Amino acid sequence: MFDGEWIAQGYAPGKLILTGEHAVVHGHLAVAVALDRGTTVSLASMDGPTRIASAACHDQRLQQAVAALLPPQGVSVSIETQLPVGRGLGSSAALSVALVRANAHLEGREASFAECHRQGFVAERIFHGNPSGVDHTVCALGSAVRYRRGEPAEPFTPPALQLVIMDSGTAGDTAAMVNAVASLPDARQRLADIGAVSKAISSTLTANVDPKTLGALMVENHRLLQGIGVSTPMLDALVDAACNAGALGAKLAGAGGGGVAVALVDDPEPVLRAVQRLGCTAFSVQLGGVSDRKQRANGSDPTSTVSTS
Ligand code: PMV
Repeated sequence: MFDGEWIAQGYAPGKLILTGEHAVVHGHLAVAVALDRGTTVSLASMDGPTRIASAACHDQRLQQAVAALLPPQGVSVSIETQLPVGRGLGSSAALSVALVRANAHLEGREASFAECHRQGFVAERIFHGNPSGVDHTVCALGSAVRYRRGEPAEPFTPPALQLVIMDSGTAGDTAAMVNAVASLPDARQRLADIGAVSKAISSTLTANVDPKTLGALMVENHRLLQGIGVSTPMLDALVDAACNAGALGAKLAGAGGGGVAVALVDDPEPVLRAVQRLGCTAFSVQLGGVSDRKQRANGSDPTSTVSTS
């Protein structure tokens, strides 16, 4: 909790990439959903230059993002997040959008989606160098999105699916992974292959979804991500353990090199136990079909966010 007298606040949710990571940087389709956990930026007034009073992690990029989005003088910044940092769950994108919203609140107004999108990208570039923009777009919209770089994002209502998000326990460096992929000699073809699977996954995400087909495509997506060198032994172990425990499919999610994997399940329990046996943590996520109770609680479209437990 922020214990000072805050004068402005901004919140944005984290995200999960269902498919298309890395390929999306090079113009292919990605599909991502907003999570029901996120990051809150609280601002208090103080004398002197603006500074970060508290944050889960201090690094130079965080200082630069704050300097780019907030007034240079008179603001004390507190950052609270429910998102693990560097795990591919959108911690930097949620922070970027939350900073934009908090700054607008400081000026006595609400930030529009256009402002969150434009200014959030300023911060995302500081964190990631050459981001596709999918992360902060999802965080700013707070919904499921089909996204292609340079085109308007397409929010959509995902079908009801049960997922388990499995944390490999280590952080990945998105900028380093994106650069390493771009320098692969056969990057163009490999990314086109991922783009094709991403399109296939996207087209399954309708009310008539066949979970078996979707699960098989997720496994294929994971193999292709292995092929561009962004998986790790623990991410592979999590994907295998989930499938052996009855998941319909699984893949790493996000930039890789650490971070999380996601499994599509009928029943989360055996997969949660399998992840625990590997010494890792996991949580289950209901995609689409969020209850009316949740809708009333957060004022959002119940079918476009995910609820976690
Ligand atoms: O924020 P992460 O670590 O989940 O990675 C974002 C997905 C990438 O496609 C690897 C990068 C990007 O900018 O789209």
